[in-house]
Amino acid sequence: MDKKELINCGKVKSVYNSTNDDEVIIEFRDDMTAGDGERKEVMNNKGAYNAIISSKIFKVLEENGIETQFIDLPEPNVMIAKKLEMIPIEVIVRNIATGSLIRKYPIADGKRLNPPIVQMDYKDDEYHDPMLNDSIIKALGIATQEEIDILTEKALKINEVLTAFLKDAGIILVDFKVEFGKDKDGNILLGDEISPDGCRLWDSQTLDMLDKELFRKGKDSEVMDAYIEVYNRIIPDDEKVI
Ligand code: TYD
Repeated sequence: MDKKELINCGKVKSVYNSTNDDEVIIEFRDDMTAGDGERKEVMNNKGAYNAIISSKIFKVLEENGIETQFIDLPEPNVMIAKKLEMIPIEVIVRNIATGSLIRKYPIADGKRLNPPIVQMDYKDDEYHDPMLNDSIIKALGIATQEEIDILTEKALKINEVLTAFLKDAGIILVDFKVEFGKDKDGNILLGDEISPDGCRLWDSQTLDMLDKELFRKGKDSEVMDAYIEVYNRIIPDDEKVI
């Protein structure tokens, strides 16, 4: 696992070329950011918890027929992944209304959304990730209608599998964001990560938040305990590497 050059340094992950041209090495750093990266803190071991949680979720999705970029987790915070050309769309799935949805639309906080809402935002900090629709996506040239349909179908399938998996761990999947990319053969695979950074996760009993929303609300001292709670609930003891 030799890192070659850094090819992308994101807000919380660094992506390196690997000696294998079809793979990349993704380092999950301990940074936590909010508000388009305006607020930033370092949280001890956060990168490892997210990498392990994300790897576990990707493996569960693979077992359920959803292809992901995950290959291996050789170190707690280092993932080997298939190299993808990422599509600059954040696909957000919502099962319960909250967050930006209720700030923008007259929908009651906590309302169950059935069927779930699938929303696509343009991944671009300079433009503050504006919401897209099919014609805007096509005008920007970032995906075809067929690809938009594939993203929607995959996001809904991920929602189904993940909702059931987390339910068994006593966690409600309120909403989440996923990103996809194309492999060298043009297949669309799930990429990036699925971790408490990009999901709203509520304890099924208490409805306590177990995700990055705590950091967004300034409850910095509670964030890592929440991430560790998710880790403890979804990672079996014999798979715990930290
Ligand atoms: P949303 O309600 O749109 O965002 P907020 O209220 O934080 O402005 O977020 C829906 C879900 O998608 C939530 O679980 C966080 C996740 N998400 C990201 O991970 N990154 C993003 O850039 C956005 C917009 C959402």
